[in-house]
Amino acid sequence: QKLQLNLEEIEKGGYEHFMLKEIHEQPKAIQDTYRGRLLRDQAIIKMAGVEDNMKKFLNANRIIIVACGTSWHAGLVAEYIFEDLARIPVEVEYASEFRYRNPVITENDVLIAISQSGETADTLAAIKLAKSKGAFVFGVCNVVGSSIARETHAGAYTHAGPEIGVASTKAFTTQITVLTLMALRLARAKGTISSSDYRHHLLELEMIPSKVEEALKSDAHIKYIADIYKEATNCLYLGRGYNFPVALEGALKLKEISYIHAEGYPAAEMKHGPIALIDENMPVIVIATKKGHYEKVVSNIQEIKSRKGKIIGIVTEGDEQVKALADHVIEVPETLEPLTPLLTTIPLQLLSYHIAVLLDKNVDQPRNLAKSVTVE
Ligand code: G6P
Repeated sequence: QKLQLNLEEIEKGGYEHFMLKEIHEQPKAIQDTYRGRLLRDQAIIKMAGVEDNMKKFLNANRIIIVACGTSWHAGLVAEYIFEDLARIPVEVEYASEFRYRNPVITENDVLIAISQSGETADTLAAIKLAKSKGAFVFGVCNVVGSSIARETHAGAYTHAGPEIGVASTKAFTTQITVLTLMALRLARAKGTISSSDYRHHLLELEMIPSKVEEALKSDAHIKYIADIYKEATNCLYLGRGYNFPVALEGALKLKEISYIHAEGYPAAEMKHGPIALIDENMPVIVIATKKGHYEKVVSNIQEIKSRKGKIIGIVTEGDEQVKALADHVIEVPETLEPLTPLLTTIPLQLLSYHIAVLLDKNVDQPRNLAKSVTVE
């Protein structure tokens, strides 16, 4: 048993938990994801699974994304990117709902299944259903040779390396990286992005690992904030546009490992319900980066403040306006709007991690949860 423990210590590479190790591995994981695929000097994105099936993607009436849990959140981010850059209509579905609701699927649909483990039962069943209706099915998996990787017609691995912590971290950011590469490649092929814009995106994507590194430097500040709010019983996460799925993912991370009730919401929807919950005991985490609906989010923050909610803002470096209103701010470097989820996710992972550790919860193996859900 002693040997077993030592092995685990070695695997954790000096970190206290796998989750923390995996959070810190993200700069490298993202780089591994685009290595050999993003060739910036030649302004090329090389992905065999996309290239070999280009016609299917370009002729698709729509893309249907199916996934569960955190992978479903990556799908939501992809919806914004594919529609924004490649102008292809996208629907994002929980695999468990999709498979049982007699969905309309045709041969001109492309289904993208996203799964870290490649073994999630509902996602696998959704793939089989789509295949039986003649759709082209593309997989975005982390585990090489997994059931979903084998069951799909083509795919792209995330190359995040093994993810041990039950709460997904680096799998999420690398899924977004793969989906961003795909959207950019398709946008270029369709001519829905200008050459200079395309090059700008490639350049910025290459800078993401060092910007994630920068975002990770807020760790001590985030731990300090975690200590203040660790006794909260409810938390609200708000974001708009590309940061709406990030709000959902931030709330999920907190629920999963600290067992604090948290809800993610599109910031503007706050008025249609959650605002009723806001009082001086309610921490509200608001993603308010400079690009994308900034002024609108600032006015949401004012509404929260006038109801005495505690505001933790995730802001762009150098931000002044939110800083003046919020109780705390956590800065992330600036980037292009479609790439912001790769940065704004980082502080939310760290916040949930530190709260869970301070509450003495089992961070890597939270109660009732499994790393991979292979039964319905
Ligand atoms: C479980 C895990 C989550 C994961 C979800 C989907 O709930 O605990 O972390 O996001 O399954 O798993 P998949 O392997 O399909 O991405």
